[in-house]
Amino acid sequence: MEITFLLNGETRRVALSDPTQSVLDWLRAEGLTGTKEGCNEGDCGACTVILTDAAGSRPLNACILMMPQLHGRALRTVEGISGPKGQCHPVQDSMITHHGSQCGFCTPGIIASLACAHQNDQTDHDDLLAGNLCRCTGYAPIIRAAKAASHSPKPDWMDSPLQLPEISSEGEWSAGPEGGRQPPFLPRATKDLADWYLAHPQATLIGGATDVGLWVTKKLQDLPLVAFLGQCEDLAQIKETDTHLTVGAATTIAALRRAVTPHLPSFAELLRRFASEQVRQAATLGGNIANGSPIGDTPPALIALGTTLTLRQGDSRREMPLEDFFLDYGKQDRRAGEFVESLTFPKSALQFRAYKLSKRFDQDISAVCAAFNLTLDGTTITSARVAFGGMAGTPKRASGFEALLTGKPLSDETFRAALPALGLDFQPLSDMRASAHYRLKAAEGLALRYLADLTGQHSSILEVQP
Ligand SMILES: Cc1cc2nc3c(=O)[nH]c(=O)nc-3n(C[C@H](O)[C@H](O)[C@H](O)COP(=O)(O)OP(=O)(O)OC[C@H]3O[C@@H](n4cnc5c(N)ncnc54)[C@H](O)[C@@H]3O)c2cc1C
Ligand code: FES
Ligand code: FES
Repeated sequence: MEITFLLNGETRRVALSDPTQSVLDWLRAEGLTGTKEGCNEGDCGACTVILTDAAGSRPLNACILMMPQLHGRALRTVEGISGPKGQCHPVQDSMITHHGSQCGFCTPGIIASLACAHQNDQTDHDDLLAGNLCRCTGYAPIIRAAKAASHSPKPDWMDSPLQLPEISSEGEWSAGPEGGRQPPFLPRATKDLADWYLAHPQATLIGGATDVGLWVTKKLQDLPLVAFLGQCEDLAQIKETDTHLTVGAATTIAALRRAVTPHLPSFAELLRRFASEQVRQAATLGGNIANGSPIGDTPPALIALGTTLTLRQGDSRREMPLEDFFLDYGKQDRRAGEFVESLTFPKSALQFRAYKLSKRFDQDISAVCAAFNLTLDGTTITSARVAFGGMAGTPKRASGFEALLTGKPLSDETFRAALPALGLDFQPLSDMRASAHYRLKAAEGLALRYLADLTGQHSSILEVQP
């Protein structure tokens, strides 16, 4: 099997024998050792590279990016960020001027993140660098360097060539076994995926590979047959009506965040804290649902919003309330050859709020994630949807708590009377992220925070900063 992509502006055709080989391993074997391996699990950003396609340029972690994901796209590594005559990119100059590098191990990844942000005119550097771990310089000089460089013109070598390689037809990809492994399937349309997956239900679907990548790098799993959803453009569409958004399963978390920002700012804020820029640009909504994780960030928010999930198996589709998909820990209501196609939710919910508690503000998995969505008639609560992550083996509604709120006035008294129901709705576990006691107390605290939010009190530490 052969893939075609641009590497630092030059067309490369690469014969692969392992469809799950990471881009990082391949680059370093090619002698492009500027891209570093730190954690090999998407956490540190030392391996950041820039990937460009028709949708634009984005930073990604090469350690959990698989080679077929490059097909038809342009890859730029730190070696391609300086100019053809060795000129420094403005962010490189600025990092030197502002003393942004000490040991230098993180620096290539930081340069890749900053060069991509510079190319995209993005200046929210705190967010953009949250996935780049620097253990010795400290971030103040790096942020100073980033800010100073943001005013410099874009170097012309970063734009060219813009011509992306033609990608080969799917026919080539669906050829028979090769060297003991089967070639990956790269469908260009959801219909092709549906037909193929029905015929190959044992295959592993790969969205952004931000979970599956770790099965390979950390669990050393061999995945004999895989399909990559990243070229399936109609699976990444977001459709908007007057009242609802329908988001395709292959939509990245970054694209979802852009789509919900004008309508559901609290959901968008939750997504700002989903992993890091590099992970958000790869991770898909479908992966966040299909992995069935009890601590995924999108399910509580989507359940509280009243989301309908569409599953597809061949040409048949079935719909269900999202909460019904999660049957038990590690068990979802998904049939052989069936995949997540889309999720539909109201685009406006005035009383919707979502909160994430994790040990670090950035780049951390939730200990508890909570989402609340009340409907009010004046000050009377006419309906309540409340969902938590991290409180059970699945993302789950707080049905007892909801029942005690419904029909009552929106007041401290109502909320405090309903709080004990949370202890009946959930029996959380203790694990390395939090104890069961902490989780229950935190859930109660978040419920009160929600009430504070609705009644106009400052409840976010970001709002009370001077
Ligand atoms: C450093 C790091 C930080 C992270 N931080 C967070 C965080 O803050 N919050 C959070 O929620 N998650 C976090 N994650 C987990 C991960 O990024 C998310 O779960 C992500 O949404 C997975 O999406 P993906 O497209 O990468 O899934 P993949 O890894 O491609 O797939 C995950 C699973 O879903 C299946 N799958 C994918 N798409 C479909 C589909 N359409 N239909 C059926 N099955 C499908 C795959 O077969 C696999 O079983 C983090 C991961 C990393 C590496
Ligand atoms: S090596 Fe740490 S994110 Fe890739
Ligand atoms: S300069 Fe040493 S880790 Fe950042």
